[in-house]
Amino acid sequence: MESEEKRDLITLQDITDEELMRILSLAAKLKEELRAGRPQRYLPGKIIALLFQRPSTRTRVSFEVAIRHLGGDAIFLPWQQLQLSRGETIADTARVLDRYVDAIVARVASHRTLIELAENTRVPVINALSDRFHPCQAIGDLLTIWERFGTLKGIKLAYVGDGTNVCNSLLLACTKAGMDISVACPTGYEPDPEAVKWAFDNAARTGSTVIITDDPLSAVKDAHVIYTDTFMSMHIPEAEREKRMRDFVPRYQVRPELFEAARPDAVFMHCLPAHRGEEVVAEVIDGPRSIVWDQAENRLHVQKAILMFVFKAVPWA
Ligand code: CP
Repeated sequence: MESEEKRDLITLQDITDEELMRILSLAAKLKEELRAGRPQRYLPGKIIALLFQRPSTRTRVSFEVAIRHLGGDAIFLPWQQLQLSRGETIADTARVLDRYVDAIVARVASHRTLIELAENTRVPVINALSDRFHPCQAIGDLLTIWERFGTLKGIKLAYVGDGTNVCNSLLLACTKAGMDISVACPTGYEPDPEAVKWAFDNAARTGSTVIITDDPLSAVKDAHVIYTDTFMSMHIPEAEREKRMRDFVPRYQVRPELFEAARPDAVFMHCLPAHRGEEVVAEVIDGPRSIVWDQAENRLHVQKAILMFVFKAVPWA
């Protein structure tokens, strides 16, 4: 019997390895079903708040479309237009939204805000990106890798660049799925220590390998996937740009030469938005190895599966 306890998705450590695989299978089925033109009204009447403190293209649009395909309704709540921007607390805002909506999808500046939202609501809260984690992105990425290679176990993802929220979530996603992950960052830009600890805990259970290094060439050796993210995440002040470009470019920029050490069939992934000439050169992101548009599409299918998971509305259990 399913527990009556509400399900949040604040980090990937909130779900079991089996639940992650179940969300991926569900997303793959929902993708097939959409392509076949079949109706997908699995969440009729559900009203979902999208509380966004930061800009978004993919996450916002894919959640809004997913909710509509599932028969629900999305209310977009820009932070600046709520009383939050005039000092109302997140706890009070959470208690109020809890009385109106069936779930909250939130993109926030501080991860602590998500925890407060989740602690003060009875409805599910989904992390649509915080300064520390981006779980929905990493689940979509796993779906894309699974489609490309037909498996996740034993696949090696090499992440090169800044140890961002996306990197933190990939560490958790890969190690929960039995993939190997190597992260190459300059000193001072390593991933979140708690994410690294959790990744090693997961790896001990699933048999994954985790490597954190400052050497991009060793990280990409025999990799199936080379992945990067912006060097200027949304919470980084513009004043840091010059120093960051010096610290990252050219050593941590994804260029064609990096693929020479990877597998011959290696692919390039990026969560987007991309900055050509900074974390990746145009020749790679616009070249034949790039699967970034499939990756972006899969956000839609995975958002549906995540919503159905938190609402315990899984038709293929
Ligand atoms: N990758 C990602 O989260 O994109 P957006 O910031 O456009 O939502």
